[in-house]
Amino acid sequence: MNEKNTSVVAGATKENFRDEVLDGLSKSPRQLPYKFFYDQRGAQLFQEICDLPEYYITRTEIEILRLHGADMAKALGPQVELIGLGTGAGTKTRILLEELHNPAVYVPIDISKEQLERSSARFREMFPTLQVLPVCVDYLEPFELPLPRRLSSRSVIYFPGSTIGNFEPEIASEFLARLVDVAGDGGGLLIGVDLQKDRDVLERAYNDAAGVTAQFNKNLLVRINRELEADFDLNRWQHHAIYSPSEGRIEIYLISDNEQTVHIGAREFQFRAGEEILTEYSYKHTIAGFIELARQAGFHFEQVWTDDARWFGVFYFTVL
Ligand SMILES: C[S@@+](CC[C@H](N)C(=O)[O-])C[C@H]1O[C@@H](n2cnc3c(N)ncnc32)[C@H](O)[C@@H]1O
Repeated sequence: MNEKNTSVVAGATKENFRDEVLDGLSKSPRQLPYKFFYDQRGAQLFQEICDLPEYYITRTEIEILRLHGADMAKALGPQVELIGLGTGAGTKTRILLEELHNPAVYVPIDISKEQLERSSARFREMFPTLQVLPVCVDYLEPFELPLPRRLSSRSVIYFPGSTIGNFEPEIASEFLARLVDVAGDGGGLLIGVDLQKDRDVLERAYNDAAGVTAQFNKNLLVRINRELEADFDLNRWQHHAIYSPSEGRIEIYLISDNEQTVHIGAREFQFRAGEEILTEYSYKHTIAGFIELARQAGFHFEQVWTDDARWFGVFYFTVL
């Protein structure tokens, strides 16, 4: 079998998608899982979000990588197997790989199939000695890692973009505990985490003036219409993102403009005027709080790199 295709399996199936959407919309309050944002159009819109002036997150994480990448490479050591979780288009991973000393294997894990295939092909060209083994799965479900041909010194999980912020604290803790097993003894976790900051900065980042985040949020409805024979009228839904200081999180909603009925296949859903569908949480952590969360999951804190304003942190943990 061609190595390029060995570990790319189907991401979320249509059945999973339908079940999770119907299940989420039947809950009170209603919700849709954020992992379904990333169809081809969603992945493209997310790239546009990363370039928005209000969206400090990507810019700041990249700045930290550029400034401290050499230090990170020293901490991770030579010849690592890098396991990328939701590394998307791979912009940050590329910066990291350029700093790492003779990395052996790169295993990007992402639910967005087209994007994963495209970025894996690019990484093979850019790093000819690196073995690239993409795995298209939902990382919230148990998954198997491919067996690399090249020997590595240790496995290091790379989880950028503050995607860990999408998890509620209890789920984040369970997820991190699973990552301890994935990294294994002597392994590591390099993780990007958005930190608490001024509420205005946060709310601007998720309610950009050009409306790209609104398009990204509504694209979930476009996808449901296309793939699940639904009839959401996009003009009757509004994007809304708000910071909850008590929970320390941004909450992202789609709000129904008025009373309406939506069909998904044979199912019918009634929405009240002003009724919300929760589409994403983005938790903002403190440095001490995140170290404690990871410690409880079984990780040993090694180092954190931040920007001058301490808006974002890239943490390195190991498994002792
Ligand atoms: C917010 S984007 C971040 C992309 C990139 N890491 C960055 O920092 O710019 C989240 C990425 O994680 C992937 N993703 C989200 N949920 C996932 C899941 N449950 N399983 C696998 N991949 C997932 C998406 O496809 C997307 O590429």
